[in-house]
Amino acid sequence: MFLEMKICATLLILINVKTSFAEEDEVPVVKLPQGQIQGHTLRSSLGNKLYYAFQEIPYAAPPIGTLRFKEATEPEKWKGIKNTTHNTRSCYINGYTVEIAPGVTESEDCLYLNVYTPVKPGSNSSIPVLFWIHGGGFYFGDGTFPVYGPQYLIDFDVVVVTINYRLGAFGFLTTEDDVIPGNIGLKDQHFALQWTYSNINLFGGDPKQITIVGESAGGASVGYHLISKKTAGLIAGAILQSGTAICSFGYQPNGNYYAFEMGKALNKNFTSEKSSDLLKVLQDADAQDINEISLEVPEDKERRIGGGSLVWVPVVESEELDGAFITGPMHNDIKEGNVNKVPVMIGYNSEEEIVFGSVDDFKEKAAKLDEDDSQIVGNVYNIDDTNKETAGQQLKKLYTKTTFEDNLSALVKFKTDSDFATPIIRHAELHSSLADVFLYQFSYKGMMGFLNTSIEGVDAVGHAEDVKYLWHVDGLDDFSSYSIGDRLTQRRLLKLWSNFVKHR
Ligand SMILES: *[C@@H]1O[C@H](CO)[C@@H](O)[C@H](O)[C@H]1NC(C)=O
Ligand SMILES: *[C@@H]1O[C@H](CO)[C@@H](O)[C@H](O)[C@H]1NC(C)=O
Ligand SMILES: *[C@@H]1O[C@H](CO)[C@@H](O)[C@H](O)[C@H]1NC(C)=O
Ligand SMILES: *[C@@H]1O[C@H](CO)[C@@H](O)[C@H](O)[C@H]1NC(C)=O
Ligand SMILES: *[C@@H]1O[C@H](CO)[C@@H](O)[C@H](O)[C@H]1NC(C)=O
Repeated sequence: MFLEMKICATLLILINVKTSFAEEDEVPVVKLPQGQIQGHTLRSSLGNKLYYAFQEIPYAAPPIGTLRFKEATEPEKWKGIKNTTHNTRSCYINGYTVEIAPGVTESEDCLYLNVYTPVKPGSNSSIPVLFWIHGGGFYFGDGTFPVYGPQYLIDFDVVVVTINYRLGAFGFLTTEDDVIPGNIGLKDQHFALQWTYSNINLFGGDPKQITIVGESAGGASVGYHLISKKTAGLIAGAILQSGTAICSFGYQPNGNYYAFEMGKALNKNFTSEKSSDLLKVLQDADAQDINEISLEVPEDKERRIGGGSLVWVPVVESEELDGAFITGPMHNDIKEGNVNKVPVMIGYNSEEEIVFGSVDDFKEKAAKLDEDDSQIVGNVYNIDDTNKETAGQQLKKLYTKTTFEDNLSALVKFKTDSDFATPIIRHAELHSSLADVFLYQFSYKGMMGFLNTSIEGVDAVGHAEDVKYLWHVDGLDDFSSYSIGDRLTQRRLLKLWSNFVKHR
């Protein structure tokens, strides 16, 4: 009797599920407030299941003309049915020269998102949502299907949303007033999150169960959304991979300075100190010129350790400004519980830093630090100039008995700790007094991570290797070339991530 009931129940569930899942050749249409969109059905990689994909849905008006350097606004309505079956646009990637996917080009008109769902739109399902914020140092990357394909995650019964947001100068140049507000790129992400909250039920997603997930600059972004009051009520959980809002790479203390440097670099005659004059110069300029020049601008200002080209990144905004998104200081906010108290999973890869250069690059970095111990501390630790040298020496001693030059693995370890592990562990500790926290270190070395390292003494997992296990990348999907260990690790990661999204 009991057994029968169980079978019955199972059958019922099966029937129920079947009617709401995708069918081949079905042409799904969803009616958004602005107009209708038509997606398509695709197949997952691991389970070979059908799912619905809607690509390049406009979530904001194109940020061009007078909307350049301004906060995102609602998209216009459209007539008829918009074809959302392919991706063509990434945001400008600030002079970065890696190839973007075939058929995808850089454009200022880039505020689009993608929704992938295993359940039939309109079928009265309500399943958890994974909202992905891509990394790329706030100056490159995009959320398109070829680089962040949902083919693995979708087998784990979550709705997946991926987004583009403005990058580099377009997303983070700021006069730190209300003329060119700060954190435009974060505000794009927030706008996309609000869109998701309002519309995801149309795709079978539950707006009350959105988990925001990001890696590197995306992880830092997730950290900022955790802190921002504007995100209250929009998220049920957060996953931060290899980045948080208290990583030094995600914070720019001199936003106004760089904004005006940009104006001068664009127009040699520009001498004004007025934000409105700068905005005019910048809005009149060719987008391509802004894109190219934005990489040259930062040269003459002292760089923070690991700063590299990470100049166009988030800032702390004045509380008096309308629409301020981050008012900081971030560490204090987390410490004082001035954040969204949702469950968090957070972690890093065991040797993040290995990915940031060749052996020769590391030798060069090592020589610089060995020559001047104060550089080890740089400007990130809040230490007085007079104490920097001693502090640097002490810090170095924790990693090597000799020099960084003689022990490059010590440099890799130090930079991994300094730029990633230390702030991430700190964030985990602080947040754990507010909500559940799951802290991880990813240290499985496999080919699926797509990184073959070669520094003596470093044989572990670099920055962004975790991402390749979770997301399908066009061209890296020849499973026959991956070991059983890789595939097992992939399933474990997918299970852990999706379980967090579903159950937290
Ligand atoms: C939508 O766009 C795709 C790719 O360009 C094309 O193959 C397809 O025919 C289009 N569908 C409609 C209904 O226009
Ligand atoms: C949708 O599902 C909910 C809960 O599962 C149920 O209460 C509601 O009646 C359903 N609505 C429709 C239109 O089927
Ligand atoms: C700068 O000013 C000079 C002299 O007025 C003018 O000839 C030149 O075109 C200006 N350059 C730009 C980029 O506006
Ligand atoms: C080199 O660095 C590694 C990593 O910090 C450390 O374990 C090792 O002891 C160092 N070697 C020497 C000779 O200091
Ligand atoms: C990594 O690179 C080395 C040297 O180029 C090569 O011998 C080795 O086979 C590579 N490892 C894998 C797993 O491909």
